[in-house]
Amino acid sequence: MNERKPESSTQTPVSMQVCPWWCCFTFDNFLRRWLQNPTRVVRPYLKTGDKVLDVGPGMGYFSIPLAKLVGDSGRVIAADLQPQMLNAIQRRAIKAGVEKRIQLHRCRPDQIGVSEKVDFALAFWMVHEVPDKARFLAEIASIVKPGGLFLLCEPKVHVTGQAFAATLQTALKFGFKVVAKPPIFISQAVLLKKP
Ligand SMILES: C[S@@+](CC[C@H](N)C(=O)[O-])C[C@H]1O[C@@H](n2cnc3c(N)ncnc32)[C@H](O)[C@@H]1O
Repeated sequence: MNERKPESSTQTPVSMQVCPWWCCFTFDNFLRRWLQNPTRVVRPYLKTGDKVLDVGPGMGYFSIPLAKLVGDSGRVIAADLQPQMLNAIQRRAIKAGVEKRIQLHRCRPDQIGVSEKVDFALAFWMVHEVPDKARFLAEIASIVKPGGLFLLCEPKVHVTGQAFAATLQTALKFGFKVVAKPPIFISQAVLLKKP
């Protein structure tokens, strides 16, 4: 595990919109794994050696499978606002034996702050928590390599179809093109490509 050690403090105030860290325990359970298997969701978009950004990873529901899929030559940057999430990912990565493939990164509320370029970015059930979506999506567009993919997925429960369409329109302004709209359980999703 590299780049930084996750801290136990919460120096950056986290807005009311952000899913509290204790709530993310409920996001990893047998039922979700059965209905929305993380490996099956992301496997089609990855190859060995890829560099991946999992932004808003929570406790690593996708980060750990992503790390397994990219292999020893790949890297997953798990970038979250909340140190509790990063600490949980660290523990789970060690348990899964993939800690060397995961780079933990603490974001600021207004900036992801990742300088490396990635082949694949994932923003799963988190964009609705970001106050300035245009700024956030512009930053994702700057992080994804030309030819790289971005899977944007929002929950149907909190995010209306209209709100999702507005987020997609914003992403398109930053140069992304729609490649597919994969069906994902209780979600609305779009696979975007940077030309
Ligand atoms: C609802 S959880 C989703 C977790 C995970 N992607 C999943 O599908 O299980 C949303 C996560 O996004 C993080 N988050 C919210 N706003 C963020 C931001 N601006 N930058 C980085 N992470 C953010 C929260 O801290 C939380 O871990």
